[in-house]
Amino acid sequence: MKNVVLIGFMGVGKGSVAREVIKHSSYMAIDTDDLIESMENRKVKSIFDTEGEEYFRNLEKSVALWLEESVKNTLISTGGGFYKQKNLKKIGIIVLLDSPFDAIIQRIKLHPNAAKKLKKRPLLSDLKEAKKLYDARRPEYLKLADIVVDVTNKSAKICSEELLKKVKKHG
Ligand code: S3P
Repeated sequence: MKNVVLIGFMGVGKGSVAREVIKHSSYMAIDTDDLIESMENRKVKSIFDTEGEEYFRNLEKSVALWLEESVKNTLISTGGGFYKQKNLKKIGIIVLLDSPFDAIIQRIKLHPNAAKKLKKRPLLSDLKEAKKLYDARRPEYLKLADIVVDVTNKSAKICSEELLKKVKKHG
């Protein structure tokens, strides 16, 4: 099985959909932010705060090279900026979880841990800036995606079913 690489904006639900997919398939699952946090033994927010974004992007690059070289049969959830890695397409089938900006923010705000979810994401601290980032990234996400799953107002379970069906069809 080829890897499936989940891309999409912060808070769109990549982690939740990934957890559903692995319940209903034989994929293993990993998350690029989790890998980086274990490599560094500190949180993404702390890496951004103390080392800056460029340092973080270099860590993403190391992860991307390792994924291409060493990982198979795996559903890979990525941080919202990971799509910029040059070897992305070599890692696996690219699946975009897509939703309008306002729906994503609404989704985060409705979460019981909303404050924590916002706090841990440095690039969401200013919503005006985050919207600009969304507008710049969305066409790039769409260009890279082999498969698009619209997740707006859908449960993670429904999204995971749609994802698995589309991946199977894609081959
Ligand atoms: C980022 C998204 C975050 C995390 C970091 C940068 C981005 O991951 O990698 O804060 O550039 O969009 P999530 O998409 O899981 O929030």
